[in-house]
Amino acid sequence: MAIIQLQGLSRHYGEGETLVKALDEVSIDIEQGEIVALLGPSGSGKTTLLNTIAALDIPTEGKYNFDGEDVPLGHVEKMTTFRRENIGYIFQFFNLLGDLTALENVLLVQDLAGSRDKKKALELLDAVGLKGLENRFPSQMSGGQRQRVAIARSLAKSPRIILGDELTGNLDTETSTMVMEALIKTCRKEKMTTIFVTHDQSLTRFATRIIRLDSGKVVDDEKGGLKSIVNTTKFVAESVVDEAVGSAKKLTSKIKDFAKSIVE
Ligand SMILES: Nc1ncnc2c1ncn2[C@@H]1O[C@H](COP(=O)(O)OP(=O)(O)O)[C@@H](O)[C@H]1O
Ligand SMILES: [Mg+2]
Repeated sequence: MAIIQLQGLSRHYGEGETLVKALDEVSIDIEQGEIVALLGPSGSGKTTLLNTIAALDIPTEGKYNFDGEDVPLGHVEKMTTFRRENIGYIFQFFNLLGDLTALENVLLVQDLAGSRDKKKALELLDAVGLKGLENRFPSQMSGGQRQRVAIARSLAKSPRIILGDELTGNLDTETSTMVMEALIKTCRKEKMTTIFVTHDQSLTRFATRIIRLDSGKVVDDEKGGLKSIVNTTKFVAESVVDEAVGSAKKLTSKIKDFAKSIVE
C-alpha cells in the first residue's frame, strides 16, 4: 500500500475575484522508497503541496492518508506530533541554529523527538561527508556544507519521509550535485521516501519518479519514464553491490579471527 495517499486535495486562497487555487484536486499515491522530483513553474503549487504533505498546511478540501491512516488535518497538536514522528524537512536556506555546532544542530532534532543518539548523529554527519567538521558552527562552513548539515539533521530522527523545498536553490551546480548525492545515498540506505522540489531539470536524474505541477494541477506523472527506470535499476544494482561488499568484509574479518585463533 502507498505510504502517502492524496485524494482530491485542494488548497484555495481568497475568494471570488481573488480566488487562487494553489492546489486544485490533486490525487497522488506515493510508495515507500520512491524518490520523487516535483517540478513546475513558479506559483504552480509545489511548496503548498510539500507543506500539505508535511502537515504544515491544511487543505481546503480532500483527504490525506499516511500509512493507512487519515492525517489529523486541522488538529494543530496532532499535526505537530505527526510531523515530528514522520517528516524530515530540508529548507532552501538551511535554517540551522547559528549558535549551535553542526553536531548540536543534529542532536537537537533527536532531543525534540525524544531520542538522543550521538553515535547515529556522528554517523549521519560522516555519511554526508562532514567527518571532522562536527564541532564547527554554521558560520564557519560553506553553503554546501551547511546544507549537508541540514540533510543530516533531517535524517537524524529516522523519519519515514524526507521533503526538500528547493534545497539546492542557492548553491552552485557542482555543490548542488554533491548535496543531492549525499541526500539520495543516505535516503536510499535508510529506505526513506523522498520528495524534492526543484527548478533544476538536471536534478531529475536523482529521481525514480517525476511529477509536474501547473496551476495547482498534476500535469505529468512520469513513473515509468526511461530515466526513472534507469535510476531504479541503478539503485537496485548499487544496493546489491553494497550488500556484497558488506558480506565480503564480514567474511574477511571472520577469516582473520580464525587465522588469529590458530596463531594464538
Ligand atoms: N499565504 C498565501 N496567501 C495567498 N496566496 C498564496 C499563499 N501561499 C501561496 N499562495 C499562492 O498559491 C499559489 C501556489 O504557491 P506555491 O505553492 O508557493 O507555488 P510554488 O512553490 O510552485 O512556487 C501561488 O499563486 C501563490 O501566490
Ligand atoms: Mg515554492
